[in-house]
Order: sequence, then structure tokens, then C-alpha cells
Amino acid sequence: MHRLPVILALDPFTNEDPLEWVDGIVEATRDLVSGYKIGLLLALRLLEKGYSLRDLAGKLSGVELVVVDFKLADIPDVVAGAIDVLGDHGYRKFIVHPFTGGLRELVERGVDPGDLILVASMSHRGSTEFIDKHWRDFVELALDIGAWGVVIGANKPGIIAGARRLIDERGGGVKILSPGVGVQGAEPSTAIKSGGDYEIVGRMVTGSSNPREKLLELAEAYRGG
Ligand code: XMP
Repeated sequence: MHRLPVILALDPFTNEDPLEWVDGIVEATRDLVSGYKIGLLLALRLLEKGYSLRDLAGKLSGVELVVVDFKLADIPDVVAGAIDVLGDHGYRKFIVHPFTGGLRELVERGVDPGDLILVASMSHRGSTEFIDKHWRDFVELALDIGAWGVVIGANKPGIIAGARRLIDERGGGVKILSPGVGVQGAEPSTAIKSGGDYEIVGRMVTGSSNPREKLLELAEAYRGG
């Protein structure tokens, strides 16, 4: 079976040992998904148990796509420093907030733009207050600097379709990643049908008693069924 266009969000809402939890899910799903997303909740649970991000990198070794989602939003010196440290641990793709401005400065400081994923629109309702007003600017910035991808909530099909048009018009290869599937309400495959490249799925799969079975169930939706 082809890999599903799913990036599995590894957010542990459990008191299990976090490294064993990751190991169990990754071993059960690595041939089915396109990659994994790690974030602050997992990092904090690992630290709490005395593990490091290097231990986690070991569990994810061989996985082609690992997205680090700390939604970095700070001065360029600090963001570049954080990316540097994470890069030393073997991580390569980083979600950053573009609303701070200064992303071009990151690139001037040596950050590879092909490692950056810019948040262009979020899935929560409050995203319309500020971020969504600028989604086009953020997608254009991603194209201008040669970013790897943009994040647009799966429940924003109009913005996903608009971003797809913009990216295709400019002949860019910027990927569209869409969270918000399952627990947050969007149906699996809706973002892909609107022009997205990957759906970020978390609790619907990781919270199920059998994550592999759940993914196999979802495969039907991704096949267009
Ligand atoms: P669930 O369990 O809701 O997990 O499937 C979703 C994952 O995606 C993240 N998330 C977002 N990240 N923009 C982002 O950059 C968003 O609009 C957004 N909505 C959810 C969330 O942190 C979780 O890991």
C-alpha cells in the first residue's frame, strides 16, 4: 500500500513512558504514514522523565519526514539558535510563525529556507482575528524565500484552494500541511481534496486503541472512497 498523505502528530495525552509510547506508535505505523510531527507536549513529557530530544531522534531514525512543531515565534537570533541546536540533534523541518517578521534574516543567518514551514492560517476560530487576514502574504513569503511548506487548517478549504492556486501560478514547490482533521472536526481527506499535500492527524489515530487499524480504516477516505 502507498503511504497515506498523513503526518501523524505525536502528542502524548497519556501517563505512559513517552519514549515507549512513541516507539509503539512509530513501529506500528511507519510504513503507512508520510511522517511524524513532534511538539512541545512531547518534549516536556520527555524532559519530565529525564529523556532528551536526542533519545527521541533515535526512535525516529530512518523516518523520512519529521516535523518539529514548536511554532517558533521569536527574534531571529533566538529562532536561528534553536534551529541550530535542533539541527545538531538531527532534526530538519521546523514550523515557524511568520507574523513576527524577520524570516529573511533567518535565511541570511544561514538557516536553510528549505527546512522552514510557515504557519499561514490556523484551525482554531480565533485565527480569523489576525493570522487569516494575512494568509496570502505568508504563502507569498514562503514562495519568495523557498520555504518547504505552509500550514493551513483543514477546516479552511477556501484558503487551501487559494494557496494551491498561488503556489501553482508561481511554479513553486511549497507544500501545504493541514491539521484539524478528526478531533478538531474536519473529515479525513477534505484538505487533500482542496489542494493540500499532507493532513496532520493526531488524537484520532494516536488516541485509538489500535493506531494501525485506525489508519487502515482511514485509507479508504484517502483513496477517494
Ligand atoms: P489533533 O489531535 O487535533 O492534533 O489531530 C493536531 C495537531 O496539529 C497541531 N495543530 C496545529 N498546528 N496550526 C498549526 O501549526 C494549526 O492551525 C493547528 N491546529 C492543530 C496541534 O498542535 C496538534 O499537534
